[in-house]
Parts: sequence; C-alpha cells; structure tokens
Amino acid sequence: MCGIVGYAGGEDAVPILLDGLYKLEYRGYDSAGVAVCRDGHLRLAKTKGYVRELDRIVDGGRLLPGAVGLGHTRWATHGRPTDSNAHPHISHGGKIAVVHNGIIENYAKLREYLVGKGFEFGSETDTEVAVNLIQHYYNKHGEILRAVASAARRMEGSYALGILCEDCPDMLIATRRESPLVLGVGDGGNFLASDVAALIKYTRDVYTLEDGEIAVLSESGVTVYNGDLEMITKTPERVDWDISAAEKGGFEHFMIKEIMEQPDAVAKTVSPRVADGRVTLDELGIPDEYVMGVTKIYIVGCGTASYVGVAAKYNFEKYAKIPAESVVASEFRYSSPMIDEHTLVICISQSGATADTIAAMREAKRLGAKVLSIVNVVGSVIARESDWALYTWAGPEICVASTKAYSTQLVLTYLLTLYFAEKRGAISAGEYESVMREISLLPEKMASVVKDRETYQYLASIYFNNEDIFFIGRNIDYALSLEGALKLNEISYIHSEAYAAGELKHGPIALVTEGTLVVAVATYGKLIGKTVSNAVETRSRGARVLSVTTQSGADIVGGVSDRMITVPDTHDMLLPSLGVLPLQLFAYYMALMRGCPIDKPRNLAKSVTVE
Ligand code: M6R
Repeated sequence: MCGIVGYAGGEDAVPILLDGLYKLEYRGYDSAGVAVCRDGHLRLAKTKGYVRELDRIVDGGRLLPGAVGLGHTRWATHGRPTDSNAHPHISHGGKIAVVHNGIIENYAKLREYLVGKGFEFGSETDTEVAVNLIQHYYNKHGEILRAVASAARRMEGSYALGILCEDCPDMLIATRRESPLVLGVGDGGNFLASDVAALIKYTRDVYTLEDGEIAVLSESGVTVYNGDLEMITKTPERVDWDISAAEKGGFEHFMIKEIMEQPDAVAKTVSPRVADGRVTLDELGIPDEYVMGVTKIYIVGCGTASYVGVAAKYNFEKYAKIPAESVVASEFRYSSPMIDEHTLVICISQSGATADTIAAMREAKRLGAKVLSIVNVVGSVIARESDWALYTWAGPEICVASTKAYSTQLVLTYLLTLYFAEKRGAISAGEYESVMREISLLPEKMASVVKDRETYQYLASIYFNNEDIFFIGRNIDYALSLEGALKLNEISYIHSEAYAAGELKHGPIALVTEGTLVVAVATYGKLIGKTVSNAVETRSRGARVLSVTTQSGADIVGGVSDRMITVPDTHDMLLPSLGVLPLQLFAYYMALMRGCPIDKPRNLAKSVTVE
C-alpha cells in the first residue's frame, strides 16, 4: 500500500526520494509525489501513475532542488487515483505539506469542523484533513510540534505522517499510529520511511517509531518525543538484510527470483530450529504446561497466509491431535470465536502489518487467548504484540504475490505441529523421525522442482488463453488448490477458483464445458484416487485435466490426465511444500505469456494496512 520516504541532510533530497520511491513500488500504488522545502518555500510535484513519470516531470530532481523533502506513493482509498488526490497535500494557506499512509476514520467529521473554520479543500482525501488540522493548530499555538501533537490527538484510525513546514525549513517531522514508520540515521543526513527497503542503501541503523511518538529529523540528527512532547531516548537497531535481496539480480521479475530462492529460505528458516534430529523452539519459551493444556487452535491470516493456515489445520489435527480451525482474519475479527486461556491463536503474516490480522490478534488477546505469530518482518506490529513470535527467515519479499513467505511459513507450521505432537505424546517416535528426515531433505527436493522451468513455460504456452480455470483437491491438496487459484488470479488476471474436489458435483460442475481447464492437485497418497475420480467426472464433460501429483501417484493419475506434473515423494505432512512450487511456476509463466505486470499486479498492494 502507500509508501513514505523522507530525507533531511546535506544533499539534494529529490534524487534520494525518487530512489526510495522506486524501492517502495513493490508495495503497490497508483500515484506518486514529492515535496521539498527550500529558502522557506514549499515546492511539490505529483502525478497519477508511476514513479518514472514523476522522475521525468522533475527531471531526476534537477527541477526541484532542496535538502529537506518528502516522497510518497499512494494506493487510492479516499478518492480516485488522480493528480489532485496524490500526495503530498498542502494545507490551506500553503504553509504545511503532509504525506500520509493509513486511513483517518473520523475524517468526515473533522473536515466539516475545518470547513466551519474557513478551510478550503482541493481533494477528496482524508490526508487533506490531516494537513489542515495541523495547520489549524499551528495557527492556534504558533508552534509546529504542538500543532502535530494536538492534531494527532483528534485523529482516529491509522496514520503514518511525514510533515514539512515552511517556517521550519530544516526540519522533517513524523508521527504515527498503527501504520509503520522507521527512521534511518545516516552520515550527513537522516531518513524517514514506511519500510527499510527505501533507506537500506543509505543506512542500516534504524529506529522504529512507536504509536504516538513524534520525531524531528534534520541534517544533524534525529530527536524523538512522546505524545506530551517530552524527549525520549531510543536505541537504534541494525538491519542485516542483504541489499541484493531488494534487487532482481539478473532475473526478469522479483517473483521468479523469489520462487528460486525458496529452497534456501526454507533451509535458513528450519536449520536454527533443529538440533540432533529434534525440533527445538526454545527461542519461544512456551511453558510445557501451556503446550499440554491447549484445547483448540485457531490459525488466522489473510490471502496466502490464510492458505498456509488451511494446510496447517489438517496437520495439527492429524499429527498433534488438537482441534484446529483456519479462519481468514477479516472474518475472525467480527465473529464470536469460542476462546479461553487454553486456546492458541496462530497469526500468520509476511509483513506483520496487515490491518485485519492485527485486529484479529488483538481480539484474540482481548478474549483471553495466547497468540503465537509467524512473521517475516522483524519488529513488525504483529511480532511485537503477540505472546510468542517465530520469524520466517525469507528475507524481503518484494513481489506482491507471495511465494517464499508461503514456503517458509509452511515449514514453521510443520515444526510447530511436531513440537506440539511430541510434547503431548501424540506422535510415534518412528513417524517423528521419518518427518524429521524428510524435513532435512526438503530444500534439495524443492530445488529439484524449481530448476525445471521449461515445463511450465511449455504448459503456459498451451493454456494461457484460458479465461476460467478450476483447481480441485482434497485435504492438504485443497489447501494447495486455494493457493494455486489465488496465484493465478492475482498475477495473470485469469478467473480461477478452488474447490474441495468432493464439492464439485454439488454445484460448480455445472460450469464445466468443452475445453474448461481443471487443475487436479492430487499429491496426498491416501486421497489421490478420490481426487482422480472427481477429475474424471469433469473430463467426461469436456474438461481438460492438468494434474499435479507425486512420483508414486503418477501411475494412478497419468492415465486420466491430459498433462501431468510430478513432484518428488516426501512425508505426507510436507507435501504442500513441494506441491505449491508447480502452481507458483504455472501462474508465473501464464502471467508472462499474457504480458501482465507480474511484480506489481493491478489494484493490489504488498502490505494491506487498511481494513
Ligand atoms: O503480509 P501478509 O502475509 O499479512 O499479507 C497477507 C495477504 O495480503 C497476502 O498473502 C496476499 O494474499 C498476497 N498478495 C498473496 O500472494
């Protein structure tokens, strides 16, 4: 979603801001803008469309000199993606400029209040309310930090704000509630950003701004205050991300690069948690009595993360013998889950910043559950607020479509399943050892699947014109089907849907006509025959069947499929880790054949920080 970058230092700001905005493009956006303060005057440029258009308008920054500035990429919420709705927004009277991420929920009331005070508005955004509210208090107090603190107290909802004021030309101000902001401490200049990708090229020393804090950045330093404007001391953290992770490294798209990185990412996520053939989750410090007393698990997340939850549900029930339910976060937060202190809620989120998952986590805690999160972004809201956090070591995932986050989340659910199963005596020693043996082989087996990219190029060349595709599967293969259909939807814009294979004949089979493509996911040994029967039912009605199975399933599946992809055999629990790879590669090459903007699909954002 929206991205913020800010700079106060000794160099011209706009080239640095543009560079940061390019790094934030992956978040998804539809307009972009920059503002600088120079010689006591604010100047800005903004446009609907891509950062490269903004770059052209300001001639790489040459037309907008100035050493203190703000940049923004906007993902439209209030008002269409137009030049006038793009950020930065300037206050009535032109003294203050603001960029904003999040949603100010009481904006209509505040706007009415400000209109009553004589303020005029030129856009449909809630951001213009924020900038005018700050201006209103600035008129009253004559002091910009007091004005920001007073405005912050009146705004409801979520916001991360970057603020420039003509009267304080050397200062960049920032504040936030619920939308993330990081401050980078550089040599000869300081930075502000909605995520570290925008500033990692310049500094690795960052502060995370907490809810309600206000920061002042200048060339010489960064000062942070609490909401009462008392100065506070913060300790910078060192970011150890590999800078090349935010570059394509010779690949055509981040997506294919990230698909190929999965074997390594899985190895990195698993290896610190396995010692002498056993899962060690000492880093969590979960008391054994708690593990023994869990009576119910809810797994909560959105999109791809929620589909990891669907696979995990089957595994928790089968191997740890704990009732488990996977619920999408946007539903969980407004349902009435039966929760008590023996309920464990597992929140899964790559970004750790997804609004619905945050709300679900808070609701679970309010109701008395313990929350364990599986998160990729260190220090994110979900990681910090949950009782226990397990990090996926996937490195930054840039492509909007999630791949390596999915795979690393999945392996952590295996480790958790085994951890609970062993402690509760729910799994035999033989079975435990056989899963552990296969976990150690997983990266190698994954590598053997992703290295065969030609197969998917070929399949895409046959199928890319299909406009409706159905995915079917049972149990963990149903979980995979959901993910396969979502991948295809988001990057290739092909209408695709996933069904529990047994459900087809209860309705959806009516949609199958001559030539419909049905992807039958049939990796789970025990249920391969059943899924195959359902695939045959569609074939008898004219469907073409593309199957995904294991080497040992090939005999049953081959004869009834038009085309078949096989993945290596492994322990049943781990099958989704191999089965997902063909689905990701298929979606990627289908999107490529259709000429889609794979890394930044239309209308989508990487971090969905609004409800
Ligand atoms: O950052 P999160 O894991 O919480 O994000 C959840 C979803 O928004 C995300 O998985 C989304 O579905 C991806 N675009 C799927 O590829």
